[in-house]
Amino acid sequence: MSKETKKCWENASKDYQKTCKIPVDIHYGPGSPNEKYFKLLGKLKGKNILEIGCGGAQCGVAMAKQGAKVTGIDISEEQLKFAGELSKKNKVKIKFYQGDIRNLKQIKSNSEDIVFSAYALLYVDNLQKCFKEVHRVLKKNGLFVFSLDHPFWRTINNTTLKLKESYFKTGKWTEVFSDKTKKFVMYTRTVSEIFNYLIEEGFIVEKIIEPDSRKKHKGDPWHGLWDYKSKRMKMVPPTIIFKGRKK
Ligand SMILES: C[S@@+](CC[C@H](N)C(=O)[O-])C[C@H]1O[C@@H](n2cnc3c(N)ncnc32)[C@H](O)[C@@H]1O
Repeated sequence: MSKETKKCWENASKDYQKTCKIPVDIHYGPGSPNEKYFKLLGKLKGKNILEIGCGGAQCGVAMAKQGAKVTGIDISEEQLKFAGELSKKNKVKIKFYQGDIRNLKQIKSNSEDIVFSAYALLYVDNLQKCFKEVHRVLKKNGLFVFSLDHPFWRTINNTTLKLKESYFKTGKWTEVFSDKTKKFVMYTRTVSEIFNYLIEEGFIVEKIIEPDSRKKHKGDPWHGLWDYKSKRMKMVPPTIIFKGRKK
């Protein structure tokens, strides 16, 4: 349940934001180029965008600076505190809600042009429930673009760089960073499971992207941090991106 996730993020938030210094930009995660490179979202001016699992809202703020009307939802008070301050500093207005993204009760049906999420859905136990909600709040033809950890990433041992477990071992797992500074409870699925959940909930999948993490991309604050070592990133991508559209 997300109480566990909430606790992880309330504990980690301050140190996470201080260490990563994530730039205000629409990013997709470790080892990945940003939105300027992929151009998955199109023109943002005047668009209603919901960012789920917005964290410090570096993406949301960048979207608002391009003229989008942004709403951010996150379960963690600490992350939202950071997000609120960042939006003030950047002089943009974003509506923030504290809540669980498996239930988007604050958001009207058929109201959003885009639902975006960077690296938050890996913490959600019931992805189908979340996708159903995203489908409900999107307008017809609305975009659902999200990134999360590539399921191959977890199968590689960080030190030996050898396969440590089966790709087919899905479900709940706990990641303890090798320097023991962070512990997160997460849920993993195979690529086809994520793809099929999207189809079952009424999305067309327009793109799946496995960003090439063999070199450091400009504005990637995670490259080299914690377990995101370049040797491992040269073998397996840490990030996968999906672009879906409501039918
Ligand atoms: C790795 S951070 C990513 C934050 C932000 N999207 C970014 O790219 O910097 C993951 C975020 O997801 C949030 N989160 C995890 N599970 C959630 C849930 N069930 N409901 C709402 N937020 C959740 C966490 O609180 C955390 O802020």
